Amino acid sequence: MCGIVGAVAERNVVEILLEGLKRLEYRGYDSAGVALLDSDGNLTRLRRTGKVQELADAVANESALGATGIAHTRWATHGGVTEANAHPHFSSDRIAVVHNGIIENYLELRKQLDNAGYTFTSDTDTETIAHQVHEELKSSDDLLSAVQKAVKKFHGAYGTVVMDREDPSRVVVARSGSPLVIGLGLGENFIASDQLALLPVTRRFIFLEEGDVAEITRRTVKIVDIDGNPVERDIVDSVVEHDAGDKGGYRHYMLKEIHEQPTVVRNALKGRLLDNGLAEGIFGQGADELLAKVQHVQIIACGTSYHAGMTARYWLEQYANVSCNVEIASEFRYRKSFVQPNSLLVTISQSGETADTLAALRLAKELGYMGSLTVCNVPGSSLVRESDLAFMTKAGAEIGVASTKAFTTQLTAFLMLTLALGQHNGLSEEDGKSIISALQSLPAKLEETLLLSEGIEDLAEEFADKHHSLFLGRGDQYPIAMEGALKLKEISYIHAEAYASGELKHGPLALIDDEMPVIVVAPNNELLEKLKSNVEEVRARGGIMYVFADKQANFQSDETMRVINVPHCEAPIAPIIYTVPLQLLSYYVALIKGTDVDQPRNLAKSVTVE
Ligand code: F6R
Repeated sequence: MCGIVGAVAERNVVEILLEGLKRLEYRGYDSAGVALLDSDGNLTRLRRTGKVQELADAVANESALGATGIAHTRWATHGGVTEANAHPHFSSDRIAVVHNGIIENYLELRKQLDNAGYTFTSDTDTETIAHQVHEELKSSDDLLSAVQKAVKKFHGAYGTVVMDREDPSRVVVARSGSPLVIGLGLGENFIASDQLALLPVTRRFIFLEEGDVAEITRRTVKIVDIDGNPVERDIVDSVVEHDAGDKGGYRHYMLKEIHEQPTVVRNALKGRLLDNGLAEGIFGQGADELLAKVQHVQIIACGTSYHAGMTARYWLEQYANVSCNVEIASEFRYRKSFVQPNSLLVTISQSGETADTLAALRLAKELGYMGSLTVCNVPGSSLVRESDLAFMTKAGAEIGVASTKAFTTQLTAFLMLTLALGQHNGLSEEDGKSIISALQSLPAKLEETLLLSEGIEDLAEEFADKHHSLFLGRGDQYPIAMEGALKLKEISYIHAEAYASGELKHGPLALIDDEMPVIVVAPNNELLEKLKSNVEEVRARGGIMYVFADKQANFQSDETMRVINVPHCEAPIAPIIYTVPLQLLSYYVALIKGTDVDQPRNLAKSVTVE
């Protein structure tokens, strides 16, 4: 979603700001803007709808410069995609503001500010921040106290950066519900909504906490907490390795990330999985004691991460003998729920910033769970900081909006959690050994599965003119069918539905005809014969099927069915292996359709608003 970059330096910061915005492009946006202040107090603003490159061209044309500046990529919520609605927003050519999140009471504030004589030039909620700060400055000693007073009036979520033309030596920032990180340089300091934006200029970061307001100058950072008390926050050296400009020779980040899966899964297992079980303490300090008491797991997540949770439920119940519920965060947070005895709350998130998942974690903390664990990919993210335990998936930065390697590393993490919980709940020796050997074989099996790429590229041609599709799976492959359908709809815009194939005759069979391709995931497991019956039901109604199957499952290609043999693998890792051909299928279909694979329309990478 929206991205923020800001800087206070001695040099011209425009390139730093634009590079930062480019590094945040993957999050999804529809307009971009920058405001620059030079030491004489000259304030320049440029905004463009469309890509950051269009803004960069405009900046080059105007030779805009300044040693203090703020920049933003906007993903429209309040007000259409227009230059007037793009950030930064100004109040009387004095205050400039960028903002991520939503000010929910903006209409009420807007009315008051209107009455106070302020003129609004956009339809956004953000413009109220600029005018409110301006208003508070009238009765404040400095910008910091004006922002402190202003934020008390805002309901909703904000990560905001404010600049005052009358004092180019500082910016003031405030965080509540939308992340902000301060980057520390030598004689210059920075602010961003994501550390990735600042990696070219620093690797030393301060992650602001909820309610923090901070004043940043070239040499100082002063932070006050929600009650206005001065606070010290830890300085963290970033471990994130990321060169946003590097697609590694691949045409898209998504394809690169699909092909990275053997390597990142290897990283996720390294030092954690041993020949005879798990290394000690891999879930963090105090985790072993907590996990020993767990009898029930409540998983909360959104989107692809939710599908990882759904798959995990099959494993936790089948192997670890622990009961498990899985729920979409936006549902969980708004309904009354009951906490089972000895329950562990587990959130799953690539970004660690998904607004609904974070709100659900905060709510759950009040409900009496024994503890919370997050399975997350971004170190230092809000979910990591606010959970009792964090298990990092180590997938590396995921830039493509459609999640791929984050999902398969989440699943890898859950097989390890299955081992950890199972050892206290009667995991059989046979199942334990089978999970360990399956995990050990996983990176090599993923490499072998990626060799299907070429065949799937050919197959994709048959989908490009279709408008609907149906994905079928059973057992732990049902969530994989759901994930396959989500990938296809996200990046190719083909309507895709997923069903547990036992449900076919309860409704979806009515849809079957030769215009609706049916994609089936068919490993050789105990449900195979039942799945074959479902396949016959489709065939009898003239459906055209694409079956991703284990060779030993004995499916034969014919005029109604195309069979793609997937490498044989051990049962526990089958959901991870069968994910890969479905990722490739959606990628190649999108490529043929010519959609924006890495930044599909209407979607954002990190969903920081509700
Ligand atoms: C789909 C996708 C989304 C995310 C969802 C949750 O490809 O990426 O469905 O999985 O928005 O995001 P995280 O995992 O960051 O909480």
